[in-house]
Amino acid sequence: MKIAILPGDGIGTEIVAQAVRVMDALGLPFETEHALVGGAAYEAHGHPLPAATLALAQSADAVLFGAVGDWKYDTLERALRPEQAILGLRKNLGLFANFRPALCYEQLTDASSLKPELVAGLDILIIRELTGDIYFGQPRGRRESPDGAFAGAEEAFDTMRYSRPEIERIAHVAFQAARQRGKRLTSVDKANVLETFQFWRDIVTEVHAQYPDVELDHMYVDNAAMQLVRAPKRFDVIVTGNMFGDILSDEAAMLTGSIGMLPSASLNASGKGLYEPSHGSAPDIAGKNLANPLATILSVAMMLRFSLHRPDAADRIEAAVRSVLAAGLRTADIWSGGTQKVGTREMGDAVVSALQGRTAKTTIG
Ligand code: IPM
Ligand code: MG
Repeated sequence: MKIAILPGDGIGTEIVAQAVRVMDALGLPFETEHALVGGAAYEAHGHPLPAATLALAQSADAVLFGAVGDWKYDTLERALRPEQAILGLRKNLGLFANFRPALCYEQLTDASSLKPELVAGLDILIIRELTGDIYFGQPRGRRESPDGAFAGAEEAFDTMRYSRPEIERIAHVAFQAARQRGKRLTSVDKANVLETFQFWRDIVTEVHAQYPDVELDHMYVDNAAMQLVRAPKRFDVIVTGNMFGDILSDEAAMLTGSIGMLPSASLNASGKGLYEPSHGSAPDIAGKNLANPLATILSVAMMLRFSLHRPDAADRIEAAVRSVLAAGLRTADIWSGGTQKVGTREMGDAVVSALQGRTAKTTIG
């Protein structure tokens, strides 16, 4: 099992280091290889996604990704920004299906910004289409080519588009996922205003004919954003486009107490995947041993389940995380209800100890 390890920028290096320790503690035959990505790769090689990094990701059985981005790159031309690394990986590896579960851990109910009764037991899955939509349409604007034709342009635009096969394949993924859970799928769109999303709604409705056992409803994105904070437990699986999925998945993540808890998987047609925390590079807390590594550690569990066919090892990681939370250990982002405040490294130590069958015991350092 060859795993490409791409820590990236900001807290990416700290949280991925802890996830790698957890992988090592499993005692499985992993072969890992690290590469630079994002701002770190730009500094070293002049490009956020160097050819060697892309080649490594392509040759690996799975990719573990940290996070990319820093405000200091805000003035760079768009093609060189750190974010282009993750967008390039998604596109080049064909990772069209993004799974973003939002699970509220029993011990963290009080960490949510919503009333505990609204989120207790919350378990929803957002499936975001990841390689189409306005993210990959034709852009025009000043940062596209700062020295070129659009340098002083007084307008900018991006193009929103979806093709039938793109919508069909994500719809199939979503219906199949719903079939294995609560059998309810909500397709989120903006069919009342956007032609792209009327098309989306039509195709999802067509595909539904093949999944009569799954209940489908359609919801406009503004209403979905409201329902997520009004009554989130009404949802089971949500499927939506790239842009709406980006926004709604951050919103859903916060319901669970902290975006620092949530893993994600991005899969291609052959089940190969890139696994990353749902959160970003958080440059404000980088290098301070403050970041919560659990989202990345739980991403390793998703990797084991989806790409490496070791659900047993995935279960072990998830059980270890639950036991650490039950023991009262908390990073700052999930502090509520905790008894012991720990940093990134100590949280990693605790998960490793729990995996090895020892009780979580840490010192703060
Ligand atoms: C995410 C991030 C990315 C996105 C950025 C870093 C390009 O916000 O994975 O949700 O917009 O997709
Ligand atoms: Mg996002």
